[in-house]
Amino acid sequence: MLIRRILLATALAACAAAQTRPAFPPRTPADPAVVERGRAAYGVNCNFCHGSDARGGEGGPNLLRSDLVLNDQQGERIAVIIQNGRGEMPKLNLSKEQIVDIAAFIHSFQVGGYDISRMKPPSILVGDAKAGEAAFRAKCASCHSPAGDLKGIASRIADPKKLQNTFLMPRVSRTTVTVSLPSGQKAEGTLVRIDDFIVTLADNEGLQRSFRRDGDTPRVEIHDPVKPHRDLLPSYTDQEIHDLTSYLVTLK
Ligand code: HEC
Ligand code: HEC
Repeated sequence: MLIRRILLATALAACAAAQTRPAFPPRTPADPAVVERGRAAYGVNCNFCHGSDARGGEGGPNLLRSDLVLNDQQGERIAVIIQNGRGEMPKLNLSKEQIVDIAAFIHSFQVGGYDISRMKPPSILVGDAKAGEAAFRAKCASCHSPAGDLKGIASRIADPKKLQNTFLMPRVSRTTVTVSLPSGQKAEGTLVRIDDFIVTLADNEGLQRSFRRDGDTPRVEIHDPVKPHRDLLPSYTDQEIHDLTSYLVTLK
């Protein structure tokens, strides 16, 4: 009886040990300089969706609660999301080094006991619509018009957060590509897929054509329709983002 009890106790102890053993080795704290670089890159690229403290609420989920983030060590898992996008999250054009920095920044937060103190802004409409209109004229009017293509945008996208995310980073509806063959012929269409060996496009009729790639032959130019938006991102101040959003919601 006693032996059985000891065996049972040993088995239970082993079980508990197995359960508490972390699935991944603890991360070593990152160099503060790396975290600072990551904070800056995060501020420009992730803040407006995942919140300044990575706890979500601005259109993106809480990253500190994410299994994917918890299991990430040096950005290797986060990179997959950033480089491919996921759901409403567009893919972002960041270097591996930037992703490593951003991951270090996200991992620098202490997880646990934060939700009570978390203050959500009551509204993101805290900007000045007049200032937003001026910013629009300076930064957007070369491509958009409030009476033209963006007429009624606030009715089409009624949620101000969604609207804000849309202008910060519109979803790519279609990426086009031009393939220039050595013969001088050109093929143009919607990019279907591309890797190191083959590029496939769909022409106006939806017919797919594939071209074998060998280094720089044929020449492949990819046209990213939202490149202007990507280029604008680092130029905004927080205030300007709020102002622009407050202006855009008036375009009903
Ligand atoms: C335009 C808004 C937007 C931006 C910008 C954005 N995200 Fe996201 N992110 C999202 C949304 C929405 C999801 C949820 C996607 C889904 O699963 O459908 C997401 C998901 C993720 C996930 C996966 C979480 C999980 O557990 O599945 C990670 C990691 C992530 N984002 C990191 C980042 C980082 C790092 C940046 C900046 C480099 C960034 N995101 C920029 C909106 C955004
Ligand atoms: C150089 C041109 C250019 C500039 C500058 C530009 N955009 Fe865009 N914008 C585009 C293109 C192109 C698209 C469409 C992307 C696509 O094909 O999906 C777009 C899409 C949008 C959309 C989504 C429209 C919809 O119907 O869903 C909004 C909103 C928007 N831009 C707002 C802005 C704002 C606000 C600014 C200034 C801060 C701005 N854009 C600056 C070219 C530009």
